[in-house]
Amino acid sequence: MSNQTGSDRPSAKSLKPLRTLWPFITPYYRTLIAALLALLIASAAMLAMPVALRFLIDNGFIAQNMETVNRYFGWFLAATVIFSLFAAMRYYLVTWLGERVVADIRNAVYGRVIRMDPSFFEVTRTGEVLSRLTTDTTLVQSISGSGLSIALRSTLSLVGGLAMLILTSPQMAAYTLIGIVVVVVPVIITGRFIRKLSRQSQDRVADTSGLAGETLNAMQTIQSFTLEELQTGRYAEAVRQSFKTAVKRIRLNAVLIGLAFVLVFCMLTVFLWAGSRAVLAGSMTPGQLGQFLMYAFFVGSSATALSSLWGEVQRAAGAMERLSELMQAEPVIRAPAEPEYLPDRIDGRIVFDHVTFSYPSRPESRALDDVALEIEPGSTVAIVGPSGAGKSTCFQLLLRFYDASSGTIKVDGHEISRLDPLALRRQIGLVPQETVLFGETAMENIRYGRPDASDEEVRQAAVLAAADTFIQQLPEGYQTFLGERGTRLSGGQRQRIAIARAILKDPPILLLDEATSSLDAESERLVQVALEHLMENRTTLVIAHRLATVKKVDRIVVMEHGRIVAIGSHQELTLNNELYARLSELQFGDI
Ligand SMILES: Nc1ncnc2c1ncn2[C@@H]1O[C@H](COP(=O)(O)OP(=O)(O)O)[C@@H](O)[C@H]1O
Ligand SMILES: [Mg+2]
Repeated sequence: MSNQTGSDRPSAKSLKPLRTLWPFITPYYRTLIAALLALLIASAAMLAMPVALRFLIDNGFIAQNMETVNRYFGWFLAATVIFSLFAAMRYYLVTWLGERVVADIRNAVYGRVIRMDPSFFEVTRTGEVLSRLTTDTTLVQSISGSGLSIALRSTLSLVGGLAMLILTSPQMAAYTLIGIVVVVVPVIITGRFIRKLSRQSQDRVADTSGLAGETLNAMQTIQSFTLEELQTGRYAEAVRQSFKTAVKRIRLNAVLIGLAFVLVFCMLTVFLWAGSRAVLAGSMTPGQLGQFLMYAFFVGSSATALSSLWGEVQRAAGAMERLSELMQAEPVIRAPAEPEYLPDRIDGRIVFDHVTFSYPSRPESRALDDVALEIEPGSTVAIVGPSGAGKSTCFQLLLRFYDASSGTIKVDGHEISRLDPLALRRQIGLVPQETVLFGETAMENIRYGRPDASDEEVRQAAVLAAADTFIQQLPEGYQTFLGERGTRLSGGQRQRIAIARAILKDPPILLLDEATSSLDAESERLVQVALEHLMENRTTLVIAHRLATVKKVDRIVVMEHGRIVAIGSHQELTLNNELYARLSELQFGDI
């Protein structure tokens, strides 16, 4: 099940990974300094309050002096106002910093991942990347924003409070320390159990959302089999489990809260009792007692806050470790130091020079085996072969998603490994078997072909791709949302969107992976018309599944087991090549 909740993300063994946060913070050092200043001022004001309280009691109340009462009340009030003002400022600045840092980390991770090559995604599941982008950044956010704010404030008031306690009464300070240990140790121990339970309960929640997601994506299947009752039952069971684990957790939490309250109040009562005795014996003034109790409260609450923060910090370190892994990932395919120059528009001559290739995940089997092929600029070559023959692999290598194990691929005489992959891919248009629609308007979906194209150019491309008519009939024409959220398009319509994209890009080299799913006659005709427009004036490599395509091209390459087994025209191959004859009978329905 997916890691959507964060509690099941492992912690880091050390806090070292948090160091990788630093480069993200340094650009905002001014904010950081301002936050620290606000923190210092707020803490100083807070630590001054008990002193004002003591003078108020000793010099005002006890001495029955109205003027002093007024004066120290004024001080007390001033300390409160300064504290509140700067505490708010500190909160704002630190939280702002946290949000900013995490926003930058998200951008950095996404920017890195989107440039990785396919071999990276063969070992990294996209679900994992997604959960790093969402869950792990959220963990880091909670620690680098509010967590950092709490940590800084609590550390300062703990240290300052302790120092002031020792100044007030060293003996009582020693008692306080013992008291803190008594309160904090159970919090830490139970905290560990609570974290474990909360991980379990989050897992159960993830189970329920996993189940819901699965079924919501298959609504029609479920309803057509009338499985609503069964699914409702399964969901209810998952919810019951998640409730059960949650109850376990909150029960323990309740015990912890009760325990902490009892301990804290017992301790304060003991202090009050011991303090009162000291006051009566004359070894302490009532004001000193008040001051002491207030510092003890500061110190105690800071220690509790810090101890409950500890687990968060460890988890954030774990999250940061996983994030920096992604940020340090290097694509295998990179531009050489001095890439060879490609003109804006190349001629489109393609040469496969004895190319052999195995996918990194399957080094023992050859996806391409000594493939040699020359394609003249402007010509069209069809590749046919049974599935698994290596047809798509040829495209992958030409686009340089992988590098050949041996042999070279040349485009206009340049070895593609000597080119910048971006410059190479700019010359190539790909119409894949399955068109990917993005959750945007029809207009924007086509504009993916060339992001700087004008609306008018997009429309012209759609007209050439025989897509204009059906797009105009959509509820909002070119402004209709496509993709998952929007209108579903038929297979033929999706293909024509892809063709319009390629027409818009207008590349000298076109790679076309024909859809295997059969289209109805009308769609077939429209797609064919669109393709003819598209294939004009460019070098085209087409993985062919249609009779109309293979009949038209002059050179057909037959592939099997990664090898080229025959080259010829449809007529020649039908007569001379057994594999082709069989394929054409099965795939093209031609006898
Ligand atoms: N990403 C991949 N990792 C490992 N093996 C792959 C990968 N893609 C394809 N293959 C294997 O390479 C061979 C050729 O695949 P492919 O070029 O996709 O065949 P075709 O497009 O002709 O159906 C097949 O045996 C296939 O299983
Ligand atoms: Mg294929």
